[in-house]
Amino acid sequence: MIQLHDKTFVPFISEEDIATSIDKLAKEIAQDANGEIPIFVGVLNGAFMVVSDLVRAYPGNCEVSFVKMASYEGTLSSGKVNELIGINENLEDRLVILVEDIVDTGNTLVLLHEIFSKEKVKSFKVATLFFKPEAYNKDLKIDYIGIEIPNKFIVGYGLDYDGLGRNLPEVYQIKT
Ligand code: IMP
Ligand code: MG
Repeated sequence: MIQLHDKTFVPFISEEDIATSIDKLAKEIAQDANGEIPIFVGVLNGAFMVVSDLVRAYPGNCEVSFVKMASYEGTLSSGKVNELIGINENLEDRLVILVEDIVDTGNTLVLLHEIFSKEKVKSFKVATLFFKPEAYNKDLKIDYIGIEIPNKFIVGYGLDYDGLGRNLPEVYQIKT
């Protein structure tokens, strides 16, 4: 068990299981890309670890970039999303793969999708390592999903609880 601020977390998903899932995502994406060079766009801060491992597992050439927005405080999604920072690349006619650490309610994703739909991309796809199906209430299709998890707060592998826990190589779930 680990303690972050006032909360206790228990081991949930191992490094090995994460690596296996990332590998599978990389292969699926490469297969669909069919020789085209994708640009992976990670959503900071949470996705930094996923992107780092995903691009190393990617069997082919690819580009990497990051955007940043925040929608979360503490353990409850505020439902509010802030401004987007990043994306200086010309995305016209590119295969853009947005990379998320986790999709919860989908609020962040919908906003990102709106922003990216203004760019004349060739194809916009979404990849997320973790997905909470019980929390997701949007129609937007998620193209690549690593691991589906219950609607409970997790930390580690890029995900934080009020700033802490991002550096953990495995994932922990809140103890209830
Ligand atoms: P959404 O907009 O509700 O889908 O939330 C997306 C963002 O909330 C993610 O990119 C995370 O930063 C954060 N988030 C959602 N669920 C969790 C969790 O279980 N642990 C840590 N952060 C989370
Ligand atoms: Mg995030």
